Formats: sequence, structure tokens, C-alpha cells
Amino acid sequence: MTFHIVTLFPEFFREALACGLMGKAVEAGLAAFDFINPRDFATDRHHTVDDRPYGGGPGMVMMLGPLTAALSGIARPGPMLLLSPGGRPFDQDAARELACGPDMTLVCGRYEGIDARLADIFPLRPVSVGDFVINGGEAAALCVIEAVARLLPGFMGKTESADEESFAAGLLEYPHYTRPETFAGLPVPDILLSGDHARIAAWRREQSLAATLGARPELLPEAGLTARDVAFLREKKGPGLGRNLYTALLHGPVLNREGKTGTTSLTNLDVHDIARVSRSYGLGGYFVVTPLADQRALAEKLVSHWTRGPGAATNPDRAEALSLVCPCADLDAVVAEITRERGMRPFVAATSAKAEGPGGFTGFARLREMLAARPVLLVFGTGSGLAPEAMSLMDGFLPPIRPFDAYNHLSVRSAAAILVDRLLGDAG
Ligand SMILES: C[S@@+](CC[C@H](N)C(=O)[O-])C[C@H]1O[C@@H](n2cnc3c(N)ncnc32)[C@H](O)[C@@H]1O
Repeated sequence: MTFHIVTLFPEFFREALACGLMGKAVEAGLAAFDFINPRDFATDRHHTVDDRPYGGGPGMVMMLGPLTAALSGIARPGPMLLLSPGGRPFDQDAARELACGPDMTLVCGRYEGIDARLADIFPLRPVSVGDFVINGGEAAALCVIEAVARLLPGFMGKTESADEESFAAGLLEYPHYTRPETFAGLPVPDILLSGDHARIAAWRREQSLAATLGARPELLPEAGLTARDVAFLREKKGPGLGRNLYTALLHGPVLNREGKTGTTSLTNLDVHDIARVSRSYGLGGYFVVTPLADQRALAEKLVSHWTRGPGAATNPDRAEALSLVCPCADLDAVVAEITRERGMRPFVAATSAKAEGPGGFTGFARLREMLAARPVLLVFGTGSGLAPEAMSLMDGFLPPIRPFDAYNHLSVRSAAAILVDRLLGDAG
């Protein structure tokens, strides 16, 4: 396979592409590198390749003339990748696809980047190697070249090596050990010395599942798991972050359609559905909040029917979900209850459909970090949403669902399900 590398610094690559397996692949004719320096195509006396950005701002921009001439001279460029922090994240699937072709081209940016019109002239695929900025596309191109080249048939000594690696089966890889058997008092796991290949394979699978659960749980649902894998993960997972998350459904003070503060009535569906979401994601509890004593009595009756009455016998799953429901008079009582239970005041976050947040939003990543250390209460409003009296009790505000669509009027049950999933995810 030939890698055409468009770069102002061909010398950046020389050592890196000449050592180890890559060096051998070049000697064996499996990989070849063709360097094209845009500076060789500059037409002025100083070999200028960059100029100041239109519209002002810092830094310089790579000019179209030398780049266009450099790319036009490649007879068989294959897929053309533009290394860019704004590109699509590069991954193992992309590496696999590229390893099929006889050629590929990598365009390395420098300075502030490349004149954007280059993508109108050539079919460039912008790719990023991570959410960070490096000085130039060369280090990023090396990552791509290594990922693609090692998948070429014959590149690795044993063809199996690529099959057992991280991402090959949708999971991260199991840990490796080599001699000595004990180092600084740290022994190799016994199982690896047992010579029992079936048990070693089963242990490695479990290690792989545990590593993925710990570092990249979002890969698990699509990893093609067996029933045995699922049983292992179920046991391994434990309660997760969900036990620190609580939900409260506020029936007052909320806004009515005229924008006035008032109280809404209890809805059977809201009690059941949010309880089932709360149980599915392992939440700490679900508070149904109403200032009206008769409505609280109704909620108690509903809960007791499903947890202790006839409903419990006919539908034990429902009993499990409804046992999380706690009727309460107001938010202060909810906060006091969680503080008593957990020994720590919860961070109270409001949910709303409005895209403009007073003082900005508390993002999902930040709330997830908080969940690792303290309880968090998500407050959902009925009617036309939380009234200002309730808003003033909040420590933060969650970003809305579908903020930039003209219509985002979800039922509170759907909103609760979506927001809880955004916070905890399927594997969380
Ligand atoms: C200093 S960076 C330019 C950053 C650019 N001004 C921005 O803010 O997105 C110069 C060049 O490095 C390369 N580069 C930087 N970070 C990258 C990343 N994470 N993935 C791929 N290429 C990257 C690109 O080729 C880019 O044109």
C-alpha cells in the first residue's frame, strides 16, 4: 500500500517510519511512503506557502496554490484524509476500511490550518485523532498510518494478533504479563500459569469485559455479548452512579397555561412510568411532590396498592419500581429526606424545555462527575413547568432536550427517561 503524505516537514516521518515492524513492512514492499512537500510547488522566490487570514485574527493559513499543485500531481491518491481537530474521530473501523485500498493520501496542516476552499476542490475527508490541538497534522498522520498499516496482510508476524486486540471484538483488550513470575512482590495471576487454555480464554474474556466496563462502558451494548458475558457484567457492575441520583416530580408550585403559579393533580402514568425509569437505572429514589394533603394521600394509596396490596402479588416487577416512590409536601422536605438518608445535601438541578438558561447550564458531564461524589436531585415540573418560586431553590439547571427545534413539548415521563439516560447511559 502506498501512503502519499502531503507535508511541509517530511523529515518528521523518516525515523518513525523506518523502525520496528514498519521498517520491515517497507523492506518487504508491503508499505511505501511518497512525500509531497507543498513548498516545492510555491511559485515565489521565498517558497511561500502561507499567508494572513482574511477577516483578521492570529496566525497564518496554508495557501491554496502550493497545496492544489501538490495534490494534483498524485496520480492515484486513493481516499484523501485531511488531518484536522475539527474532523470525524478516527477509529478502528476507519482503519480497517482504508487498509483495503492500494493507496491513500494524508494532508497535514500547519499554522492555523488550511484555506477551507481546498475541500471544494478535492474530496477531502477531515479526520481528527482526538479532542486536543497539536502543532501540525504530521503526528496525527503517523497515528493513522500505523493504525492502517498494521492491518495489511503480512504486516504482523501472526495474523491472529490483530484479531485479539482492543476494538477487534468491540471490547478493550485483556491485560498481558510476561516473565518474571513475581516482580517487586507482584505475582502474575495464577490462572495464566495453569496451562488450562479454556479457563485462560474465559478469564481473558472476563478481564476484557471488566476493562471495557471500567473505561469505555458505551462500547458494551454493541459488542455482541453472550448470555455468560451479560451474567458476568451484571454481577460486576454493582449499583453504579445511579444510586446517587434522585428524581422529584413537582405538582406545585408550577406554572399553569396562563403563566400563573398553581398546583396540578397527580397523574397515575407519571407515578408509574418515572418509577419504572428510576428502578431501571438504579436510582436512589423518586419523590412525588404535592402541597395538597388529599393528593399525597392518593399517592400513598397508589403506592401501597402496588407495593403491599393486591398489585404486589399480581405484578412484583411493578412493586419493585413503585417501592422507590415517596410522596412529599415540598422540595425542602425532599432535600431534607435525601440529606438524612445520605448524610449530605443533594445538588438540586432543575429541568426545563427552555434553551436560555439563567446564568448558563450545568452540563451532563459535570453532573456525572458530581454523581460520583454526592447525591443529585433532578426536579421535573408538571403543568407548564417549574414556577419561579421553585426555580429559586435550584443549585443548577440541566440543558433542555431538543433545544433548537421549534417543537420540544415532551411529556414529563419522556423527558425524565431521556435525561436520566443522558446522565447514566445504558451501560452506566
Ligand atoms: C495548530 S493546528 C490548527 C488548529 C486550528 N486552528 C483549530 O483550532 O482547529 C495545525 C494543524 O495540526 C493538525 N492537527 C491539530 N490537532 C489535530 C487533531 N487533534 N487531529 C488531527 N489533526 C490535528 C491539523 O492538520 C491542523 O491544521
